[in-house]
Amino acid sequence: MSSQIDHLLTENRRFAPSPEFAANAIGTAELYAQADADREAFWAEQARSLHWHTPFTEVLDWSNPPFAQWFTDGELNVAYNCLDRHVEAGNGDRVALLWEGEPGDERRITYAELTDEVKRAANVLEGLGVGHGDRVAIYMPMIPEAVAAMLAVARIGAIHSVIFGGFSADSLRSRIDDAGAKVVITADGGYRKGRVSPLKPAVDQALGDRGAGPQETVEHVLVVKRTGNEVSWDDDRDIWWHDAVPAASADHEARPFPAENPLFILYTSGTTGKPKGILHTSGGYLTQAAFTNKVVHDIHPESDVFWCTADIGWITGHSYVTYGPLANGATQVLYEGTPDTPHPGRWWELVEKYRVTILYTAPTAIRSFMKLGRAIPKKFDLSSLRLLGSVGEPINPEAWMWYRKIIGNKTAPIVDTWWQTETGAIMVSALPGVTETKPGSAQVPLPGIAIDVVDDDGNRVGNGNGGLLVITKPWPSMLRGIWGDPERFVETYWEKFQKQGYYFAGDGARLDEDGDVWFLGRVDDVMNVSGHRLSTTEIESALVGNEAVAEAAVVGASDETTGQAVVSFVIIKESYLAAHDPEGLAAQLRSWVGEQIGAIARPRDVYIVGELPKTRSGKIMRRLLRDVAEGREVGDTTTLADTAVMSIISAQVK
Ligand code: PRX
Repeated sequence: MSSQIDHLLTENRRFAPSPEFAANAIGTAELYAQADADREAFWAEQARSLHWHTPFTEVLDWSNPPFAQWFTDGELNVAYNCLDRHVEAGNGDRVALLWEGEPGDERRITYAELTDEVKRAANVLEGLGVGHGDRVAIYMPMIPEAVAAMLAVARIGAIHSVIFGGFSADSLRSRIDDAGAKVVITADGGYRKGRVSPLKPAVDQALGDRGAGPQETVEHVLVVKRTGNEVSWDDDRDIWWHDAVPAASADHEARPFPAENPLFILYTSGTTGKPKGILHTSGGYLTQAAFTNKVVHDIHPESDVFWCTADIGWITGHSYVTYGPLANGATQVLYEGTPDTPHPGRWWELVEKYRVTILYTAPTAIRSFMKLGRAIPKKFDLSSLRLLGSVGEPINPEAWMWYRKIIGNKTAPIVDTWWQTETGAIMVSALPGVTETKPGSAQVPLPGIAIDVVDDDGNRVGNGNGGLLVITKPWPSMLRGIWGDPERFVETYWEKFQKQGYYFAGDGARLDEDGDVWFLGRVDDVMNVSGHRLSTTEIESALVGNEAVAEAAVVGASDETTGQAVVSFVIIKESYLAAHDPEGLAAQLRSWVGEQIGAIARPRDVYIVGELPKTRSGKIMRRLLRDVAEGREVGDTTTLADTAVMSIISAQVK
């Protein structure tokens, strides 16, 4: 890793925006000066570009850290800001969503139409007894109703919890239970990789026989018909969207809610087996989502076609599919399927067809396109693209250069954006019209954002050195807590640098000689696979939940395409081996993890071993397993209880 980092830090290519880009860019150098002069006044000004039913008089209340309150005496309606106000301003005919299904079906939905649909859906939810503060789980494919569902929940002051459609029934169930959801909004299925991927059956399974589990909180399931696959039906509980929503009234008043009204819970992996429900609220979140989308993605709503390829099941889909672009009144592409179905040029075909001007995607996607070769994108007209973005993991300079040359026609600036589910919106990124970009570095904090790189004791490391990334001042879209677990919130993010009052992000970072930030990956037991966060412990608990497994250790090993890959080492129970043939067991365990958590968590490799490397106190030394998984010489083993273990494991893995 360190030679790789040294290599990265010698990167000296710089790319300034073209004078034309700079002249038309929304984000200017003055923003930094304004924010430096008065940070709170700066954020207040950004917040005022939203519509407030009741204007706020206080910007930030930080009297009880780490529990921040932004714009606390103001009142707004998030959905009104994303919909009605654009219609009222005369932009109802502007296209909000240019949707395309994986099989090629299309829908163009204007702001007026989306507003209408959301009002009807809000009436349906209220009719089902959903009110202020209630939780609604959303488990949907990438179809317009998914965005409408989120906004309908927001409109009535309820709280959504979107669960990625690739998660299993078990994952769905634990998230529904943790939040105590009253309603689930789903679809019969979605199209993925040319097939129907069923969703309603997973909801049925999650809500099925609960055994000794907690009491069921879900009263109704609202189902969009997308794929027409056979689904079972509970007449008392299940409602078709197409029966209820079109029949509901399109009159619905957007009532004001306090700025700190919870907007959503989004579960993400931490260092323990249990995912954390990250809680975001309304005014501060929407302010920063809209502002960053405007200045980092340089959205000109009258002329741009934005495409963020993230699923709404992740924070990127919340902030840069639903809330940011719609708050800005932008036109965006929404695509249901996978990048390579029905052909490997599918994305580029969409860019050409919809004349996409701004593309925001993940390095893992760029690397898989790189692998397929430039001939595929070169078949399409990508000349509409004027700005490219990257998110989710460090982008290696080769991928950055390929993105620039092959997709960006050597002219489009690239913004590498660092942030997290917890930060709610982009924190570190170039401003495309201002910053000279550097391949591989996320570079600088945005105006109004204060970060640093510090050592373990919280001391600044200074330029040229590495350490831990911290956020030193509260920011509007910061998480307000972990659902139902305030202690874990304090412990996870604030205890480490309690003295300084810094937020600990969990990322390693380095400052180069210019003071630009280079992200170096997680410093905890969180893996990053294709830009998705996975916890080693969560996958280990899934593995030991299998009848064959006695013990398991999981590591994230570097992988050319996915950044990191899940590699697991398992010890099989003697009793199991006595009665079963171990042939095919590794494959069975891979699919087991898929069923327990979801396909994204399926290990790339499952190695069956006789022992695991442990310290004398019994802690698994994952560092040594990572060496094996990455095919390296195994590091220092002196602290192991049994120093011979690693050579046995290495031999078994080969
Ligand atoms: O390790 C960092 C990495 O992704 C983590 C956050 O994951 P998640 O909450 O799922 O949100 C992903 C989308 C915002 C971070 O702790 N990460 C995200 N963006 C970058 C990154 N690492 C390096 N460079 C980035 N641009």
